[in-house]
Amino acid sequence: MKTPQKTLWGGRFSTSLTSETVAFTHSIEADTRLIGYDIWGSQAHAIMLARQGIISDTDLREILRWLRKAEKDYQNGDFTLDPNKEDVHMNVESYLIENAGREFGGKLHTARSRNDQVLVDAHLYIREEILNIQRGISTLCDTFLSIAKEHVDTVMPGYTHTQHAQPISLGFWATAYISMFLRDQKRLQAAYELANMNPLGACALAGTTFPIDRHLTTKLLGFDTPHEHALDVISSRDFIAETLFALSLVMANLSRISEELVYWTTYEFGIAVLDDVYSSGSSIMPQKKNPDIAELTRGRTGRVYGALLDLLTNLKGLPMGYNRDFQEDKPPLWEAFDIVKACLGVLPQLLSTAEFKTERMAELTNANFATATELANYLVKEYQVSFRESHEIVGWLVGQLVQQEKTFTDWELTQALLKQKDIDIPISQLKQILDAELALQNNQSLGGTSPAEVSRMIERFEEQLSEIAMYIYTCQTQIEDAHKETLRIIDEVLGNSTVPTEGE
Ligand code: ARG
Repeated sequence: MKTPQKTLWGGRFSTSLTSETVAFTHSIEADTRLIGYDIWGSQAHAIMLARQGIISDTDLREILRWLRKAEKDYQNGDFTLDPNKEDVHMNVESYLIENAGREFGGKLHTARSRNDQVLVDAHLYIREEILNIQRGISTLCDTFLSIAKEHVDTVMPGYTHTQHAQPISLGFWATAYISMFLRDQKRLQAAYELANMNPLGACALAGTTFPIDRHLTTKLLGFDTPHEHALDVISSRDFIAETLFALSLVMANLSRISEELVYWTTYEFGIAVLDDVYSSGSSIMPQKKNPDIAELTRGRTGRVYGALLDLLTNLKGLPMGYNRDFQEDKPPLWEAFDIVKACLGVLPQLLSTAEFKTERMAELTNANFATATELANYLVKEYQVSFRESHEIVGWLVGQLVQQEKTFTDWELTQALLKQKDIDIPISQLKQILDAELALQNNQSLGGTSPAEVSRMIERFEEQLSEIAMYIYTCQTQIEDAHKETLRIIDEVLGNSTVPTEGE
């Protein structure tokens, strides 16, 4: 690190910071992701200042020329952040001042503060990352859709308390995840709406005496609306908390899939097999095939929760206004985005290449009384007994069979035991009542596991997923159009003047 020089805010100070204080306070690592957004925000701000007559057209030209050069340098890897300049905002402004001179570059920060600037950058960045996560979730939902379509009548045990409960279909299981993830999409959409408000123009905390136009920067940055109340703007990080909460629940869901895959692939369950590409081996035990990706997804979930808790704790003690504590919001959020994106980057493929052992699923479903509720329901319908009474009878029957280490499929015994309760059902009939596939067919209540209902839900989910795709496209277009418009104005202002070269 170079020796600290005087900073742009150094006027009232007699000395520069020490290397230790610079190292302690700078936010260069986290801010590197914000360079492009900081430049865009500065371009929009400068255009607005000139339109409002706050800076001259010549000022604007010089500022835009050098911002464009900064952007090129950044894209070519020639613009990196210097910790001595503390953060991305000071780095970009210093670049401008060093190149365009204080006369021009020094005007960019008129009617602006780093307090609103850092929020602009964060809003712009978060907005795009939320859309990336939404795309990932939709891809995962598509994978579940394919599984569901292929397996609307593949029987498997449905569990409660991790004990066999009732037969369901693999398609029903897969669509449950789609149903869950569609709610994540809604939460992300809500977080996006909060992120898509323009903080620029709140300035340090109180607005400004300059005649700024916050609607113009809102348009140039592709935001829906200005976030009006200046003091609230500067003090707020709840849009980040909202985002982290949405991400935390996404991870909860990814972790639950992972957990299921971990034990579905055990020898004991044996109902799923992962593709070799998505498994790992052991350094000592040659036979091992481990579900590491699922375990790591499960294992990384806590880090995303940690980011949420970190921010919530940060916020609870902060008075109104900007507090430097806010700087700590970014690294955990970045990490959370990275983790969720990485998990969403690998789980769809892991799932679509997994093999589901449907025979084993059927065998398990038939082995352990999963259709007991069907028999109880039958007695209610055919023998005019109350459900509580039929529950008692079937419970007694299961107890007897368990004691003798038998199952329903020991038909003669099942029939004989029922006869002791004055219930006489022919074996052929019993076979129907206790058939898992028929049970599946018959659970036709709204949202039930029947193939008819699952197929109907698949159609609805497909519609919802295409609406989400449309929504993501619209948001992305709004961002791109705004950026294009900013660049178009820059081209208009700069005419044919080429990007300045070194030393110009
Ligand atoms: N690096 C700061 C942050 O991330 C930027 C704003 C600094 N503002 C200030 N008044 N020190 O929050």
